[in-house]
Amino acid sequence: MQVLLQTPSEKQKIFLKDSHRFVAFGGARGGGKSWAVRTKAVLLALKYRGIRICILRRTYSELRVNHIDTLKSQLLGVALYSEGKREFYFPGGSVIYCRYCQNENDLGKLQGTEYDVVFIDEATQFTESMFRMISACVRGTNSFPKRVYLTCNPGGVGHGWVKRLFIDKKYNKGETPSDYSFIRSLVTDNEALMRFDSGYIKQLESLPSKLRKAWLEGDWNIFEGQFFEEFRDVPEHYADRRFSHVIEPFEVPASWPIYRSYDFGYGKPFDCSWWTVDEDGRAYLILQLYGCARYPNTGVKWSPDRQFSEIHKIETEHRWLKGKNIIGVADPSIWDSSRGEAIIDTADRHFVHFSPGDNKRIPGWMQCHYRLQFDSEGRAMVYFFKTCTDAVRTLPLLEYSKHNPEDLDTDGEDHFADSFRYFAMSRPIFLSEAPRARTDFYGDDPLDLRGGGRYKKYSYI
Ligand SMILES: Nc1ncnc2c1ncn2[C@@H]1O[C@H](COP(=O)(O)OP(=O)(O)OP(=O)(O)O)[C@@H](O)[C@H]1O
Ligand SMILES: [Mg+2]
Repeated sequence: MQVLLQTPSEKQKIFLKDSHRFVAFGGARGGGKSWAVRTKAVLLALKYRGIRICILRRTYSELRVNHIDTLKSQLLGVALYSEGKREFYFPGGSVIYCRYCQNENDLGKLQGTEYDVVFIDEATQFTESMFRMISACVRGTNSFPKRVYLTCNPGGVGHGWVKRLFIDKKYNKGETPSDYSFIRSLVTDNEALMRFDSGYIKQLESLPSKLRKAWLEGDWNIFEGQFFEEFRDVPEHYADRRFSHVIEPFEVPASWPIYRSYDFGYGKPFDCSWWTVDEDGRAYLILQLYGCARYPNTGVKWSPDRQFSEIHKIETEHRWLKGKNIIGVADPSIWDSSRGEAIIDTADRHFVHFSPGDNKRIPGWMQCHYRLQFDSEGRAMVYFFKTCTDAVRTLPLLEYSKHNPEDLDTDGEDHFADSFRYFAMSRPIFLSEAPRARTDFYGDDPLDLRGGGRYKKYSYI
């Protein structure tokens, strides 16, 4: 019987030898974390006959692609795999349990089970209470090691507690500092990836500067301040306005398509934005109807009926829109009919039609960031006519969320931003010239280039 294991990097070696109760590894993207998890799990299963090991991810698809598929081929002829139970059985009696923790129900299933060693891959995707509950499963009346291994990147719902325990090392009552160990590993420490896929580092380098600092340099102190930090509104008296997202309106060519994005609001602002796209895929916000925010003290509310009748009126009268086949995308919650007529039915009555927008927030924000980025000549993939004053006013005001640092603070005036996000997700772009030649991917991962084809800079999928 033989298990083939690749040679670890220097950082992975330190991780494999670490025997603290809580060992965290990584702190940036691509540092060889998931590899280290699989390798350590197999080594433990072979060394301690009868040990119970659990590998955890937040979602089943991440678990399967990052771990199950690879372990199945690596352990072929060594351990038996049960598809139904998602467990690997080793001849000596050791078991690797592959588990995910997408919701409370999944967490409930873990409660009461006992493991000797648990691996939480991408621990920053887990809340602190999940971590506590999972850690409580690590127990048993045997002499096997009792450990929790965690891998992590800055960002995600668990950013705060992972940073406190492993980066800032600030402990609460009942926590023993000597139990915690952190091994930093950046993409540059992953010698194998550097050798075979140098394109991946380019992709990290092309991220907006804060995310780049987080994922490339492993900086945990980045989620403060303006969310759309790349947004530029260069004043009109500057001669060179190339690096400005806000532009003078121009006459929209009749052949360019028109899109409409909509974020519902009643009592709070709604946003209806009209976009056009040129031959290069560059988007322009050309018109905007932004509900009642301009009259914050009047208490004026536009009912859904009023909103859609105004939208319809604009679409039948404005020279850029009338007679056009307008493609609409909207906040999916407007399909909800649990409290009477769904908003979408009201819209349909006014001949304003939509399809549901993709509401995944983090990939959606990444698409907005990608579009906002300037190339070396000062060209972005999205521009805003300066007449769309509520877009131009609100976008730079938005701040990072304190709870989920990859998201924005939803207490801000984010109605246009949401509408922009639905539009951006309906026409996603990639930034990379050389896509990442990797076989694993991540459910909601904005760096995930599933499909693997060769893309020109800023091409469509
Ligand atoms: N020691 C090694 N030998 C060979 N290949 C390796 C080694 N370590 C990592 N790799 C490969 O490098 C790539 C990235 O590694 P891995 O997926 O473990 O990184 P990660 O830190 O989990 O990345 P992410 O932050 O994207 O989750 C994978 O293709 C993996 O198989
Ligand atoms: Mg990983």
